[in-house]
Amino acid sequence: MPSHKLLLLAGDGIGPEVMAEVKRLLEFLSKSRIASFAIEEGLVGGASYDAHKVAITDDTMAQAHAADAVIFGAVGGPKWDKVPFDVRPEAGLLRLRKDLGLFANIRPAIVYPALADASSLKREAVDGLDIVILRELTGGVYFGEPKTITDLGNGQKRAVDTQVYDTYEIERIARVGFELARARRNKLTSMEKRNVMKTGVLWHEVVEQVHAREFAGVQLEHMLADAGGMQLVRWPKQFDVIVTDNLFGDMLSDVAAMLTGSLGMLPSASLGEVDAKTKRRKAMYEPVHGSAPDIAGKGMANPIAMLASFGMAMRYSFAMGKQADMLDAAIAATLAKGLRTADIKSEGAKIVSTAEMGAAIVGELEKLAA
Ligand code: IPM
Ligand code: MG
Repeated sequence: MPSHKLLLLAGDGIGPEVMAEVKRLLEFLSKSRIASFAIEEGLVGGASYDAHKVAITDDTMAQAHAADAVIFGAVGGPKWDKVPFDVRPEAGLLRLRKDLGLFANIRPAIVYPALADASSLKREAVDGLDIVILRELTGGVYFGEPKTITDLGNGQKRAVDTQVYDTYEIERIARVGFELARARRNKLTSMEKRNVMKTGVLWHEVVEQVHAREFAGVQLEHMLADAGGMQLVRWPKQFDVIVTDNLFGDMLSDVAAMLTGSLGMLPSASLGEVDAKTKRRKAMYEPVHGSAPDIAGKGMANPIAMLASFGMAMRYSFAMGKQADMLDAAIAATLAKGLRTADIKSEGAKIVSTAEMGAAIVGELEKLAA
């Protein structure tokens, strides 16, 4: 039985509650001898700030570097609104992404049949939806320098963020996009704002070049990111894989999440480059939702995005594609039985807690694995 080294970083808000359901899943996988895990846990975000005055410590970063996969919950909350910008909870997440080189963020938006009515869009627009937002995760305005607020001395201040992309950064994310598309419905849509931004001009040019050079067999389409957002809520099924930069990807993936009924449904995988020697890649798995401080500690958070994120770890880090499919089927079966957390509640459904939802999903998985 292969053993995998995991670092669990539950973080803040609902993070620990949804992470508890991953632990339930891990126990099942070990107990039933499907896979075994060497598990470490650490602090990130506000939890780390409270203990160490930084959003993640160097020691925890070292553990993250050594892990086969980092499983991340959520960070942030009003409690830390006033902490210095450099050590705000989100800085821990950004350091993990940047230092581990996790440039490719895969955010699938899948509508489970039982949930097609939970979306704010009409059933026919989302029923059977299965698309991927591929977000560039280590570049762009999130990390560009300068990033400053300067006092102009005349009662005015000036804030600067810098959107910057080099050719290689666009090439490598485009390649991941084309490869994903090729394994799916063979269509890639690239989104930028080349009508306004120089980074958009370069993004468009480089994606075209990678296409012509390496992936001419994949259907490529370009959209301005604002029009893309509009198309995403008008007729999302026109898309297969969408590749876009860090900031547009952040926004468009929240939009895509709501197509599926709730932010609590969307998992994600953040992957680094494949190491030529070891053939492995650094990886972190994180739900798209945040720490939801308003419902934290109430046992009502939806654990599905977190569990499905672990499913992506099985798929992308542990070569357990079959078990990942089973986990997806277990989630679908649990929803089909009418179990719902509060965020996806519907007429006649049974509202359950985070733990009840997690236990039901693991129970379904147990049946499927038997
Ligand atoms: C996300 C989140 C993060 C981001 C925050 C928490 C820094 O919104 O993963 O989508 O902006 O990338
Ligand atoms: Mg976001």
